[in-house]
Amino acid sequence: MTRTDVPTSAGRLSSGTIHRHVLFGAAITALGGLLFGYDTGVISGALLFIGKDFPGLTSFDKELLTSMLLIGAMIGALAAGRIADRVGRRPTVLGTAALFVAGVMLAALSPSYGVLVGARVIIGLAVGSASMVVPLYIGEVVPPRIRGALVSFNQLAITGGILASYLVDYGLASRQNWRLMFGLAAIPAILMFLGMLFQHESPHWLVAQGREDEARQVLHRVRDQDDIEAEIAQVRQLSTRQSSLREVLNPAMRHVMIIGVSLAVFQQITGINTIIYYAPTLLSSAGLGNSAALLANVVNGVVNVGMTIVAIRLLDRTGRRPLLLGGTAGMAVGMVLVALTFAIGGSQLHGSTAYIAIAGLLLYTGSFAIGLGPVFWLLISEIYPVKIRGQAMSVATMANWGANFVVTVSFLTLLSAIGNAGTFFLFAGLSVVALVYFQRQVPETKNRSLQDIERDLNLPVGAQ
Ligand code: BGC
Repeated sequence: MTRTDVPTSAGRLSSGTIHRHVLFGAAITALGGLLFGYDTGVISGALLFIGKDFPGLTSFDKELLTSMLLIGAMIGALAAGRIADRVGRRPTVLGTAALFVAGVMLAALSPSYGVLVGARVIIGLAVGSASMVVPLYIGEVVPPRIRGALVSFNQLAITGGILASYLVDYGLASRQNWRLMFGLAAIPAILMFLGMLFQHESPHWLVAQGREDEARQVLHRVRDQDDIEAEIAQVRQLSTRQSSLREVLNPAMRHVMIIGVSLAVFQQITGINTIIYYAPTLLSSAGLGNSAALLANVVNGVVNVGMTIVAIRLLDRTGRRPLLLGGTAGMAVGMVLVALTFAIGGSQLHGSTAYIAIAGLLLYTGSFAIGLGPVFWLLISEIYPVKIRGQAMSVATMANWGANFVVTVSFLTLLSAIGNAGTFFLFAGLSVVALVYFQRQVPETKNRSLQDIERDLNLPVGAQ
């Protein structure tokens, strides 16, 4: 960013001020990512202690508690897109934060199992909504050249939230305090609500509503002056079309919709959440002591965060495609390593096979974190035309939660049906299929304006 001053209705702002506005906005909305990670990760530890207050829970009851969040998230993602397109991105983020607060408080204070299930659905609605509206909002507010890093800030927040939940679960385990495990999430939720009160509406959404003066005021705070009028004109031109869910699904949009939904489904069916949710269970049932399994899990969480930071540094430099392709190849190799250790060592891991399995897991998670993890969320904030962006992102996000649900509920069954080795070979195979698809279909979006990407993907620009 150049060191020139830009005039605004409120006077002249330096690019340092622009940076602060953009970074503060990204930080606030990324709290949504933190809550996404925390609330999905916290259940693994909490499950161990819920039975203490609600005796007689079956494993189906526990599965229900885990998966209702994913169902809620699907609905939340779908609804949030429509709401964000209709009432704006900012009120949607505010509503999402309020829902988070309500959901986690209800979970922490649940008088019965039924209420807790209801609370998990409410948290799910908020998680699903946050998972689409946060990248949507950040993607529209920040300048193109740092968009990759800042949208991926959201993925960093997700991985940070998962790691925080592991640490909180571990720290509160001796007190068996599952209520506090859930309740602590109220703090980032309240911060998100308060912080968003001071943020502005997305300038792209304002232009799409014909509110260009307001958009101009916002853009003066978050862009260099030279870029502003051209950006408004481009967004205006691209947003003259009608928008409806039918349009999202119409043949002209099919190409980008398929890319987004495929990325969504591949992100899940290559197995990430079987590791995120079940790694300790898997490792301890393979003969590793409980504490070694928990430690390996924390290390896995640290690698997830660390490699996401590496991705953020690289996404706007090397581009999205090299990281996506390299990362997906690494995931396949990691899964093959894990599968081989089970194939060779049987269901019990000892000595070197245990180390190789853990190395495979870390390679897999690290490769996900540098590629498919952040790149999926980034690309779905980039490849859709502005007029339908909210709804199109909803469809992709919903597909992501739906695939997550299917994998999560079928994983344990899969393990007993085709064995550990078979299951991980399957994930390795699916990673290879994903790699071939990405190589052929996924466009590079580095350093381009959202408007240029829209043109290049051959969408019917300006068409009715
Ligand atoms: C995925 C989540 C996953 C997380 C792991 C996200 O990009 O959408 O399903 O739990 O990454 O870091």
